[in-house]
Amino acid sequence: MNLLGISGSVRSGSYNLALLKAMKALCPSDTSLAIYDQIKQIPTFDPELDDNETPDSVCSLISMMRAADGIIVSTPEYAHGVPGALKNTLDWLVSSDALILKPLVVTSVSTSGLGGVRSHSPLTLILSAMNTNVVVEGSMNVPYAQNKFNSDLILTDDLTKRAIETSFMAMRQAVKNS
Ligand SMILES: Cc1cc2nc3c(=O)[nH]c(=O)nc-3n(C[C@H](O)[C@H](O)[C@H](O)COP(=O)(O)O)c2cc1C
Repeated sequence: MNLLGISGSVRSGSYNLALLKAMKALCPSDTSLAIYDQIKQIPTFDPELDDNETPDSVCSLISMMRAADGIIVSTPEYAHGVPGALKNTLDWLVSSDALILKPLVVTSVSTSGLGGVRSHSPLTLILSAMNTNVVVEGSMNVPYAQNKFNSDLILTDDLTKRAIETSFMAMRQAVKNS
């Protein structure tokens, strides 16, 4: 199973990126996880552009999505919602068929006690509207990130590690059924 993990944060010290790196390290032996952490390279979505004017950075992300059996999107919560850079990236994909029926797991990591649920939840609705196959059983909210990753951004929390295993199992089932 080839997976693509997209970080919804532009921070180099991002906990959401750290979660994706932890997932990559915990991948089962027959699974690979490529990580995309370049949403800051994606220009502002412009619906007036023709298809042949789609920026290279967007085309390259679309190619990575097509090559993946499943996708994980990990999002921070900004002002009780989805970060603008991530929403902007998704807006470019609305007219593409790269995500249609693609198994997709949403994760969120936050330093607050709610684990980014106020971003996670609307993101799930947005991705459902885009006709992806959101794998709800694989979703994860990680609250109090500062207590679960060490100063090198390595995941140290055993419960989160177990949740990652469950998430991979749900993703595997969804990929098998797709
Ligand atoms: C502008 C801004 C707004 C934020 N708003 C919220 C919020 O509404 N709810 C919340 O739980 N955390 C909020 N946070 C905290 C982030 O969830 C936290 O910093 C998280 O670690 C960001 O994800 P990252 O580490 O992957 O960059 C906010 C952070 C910033 C910078």
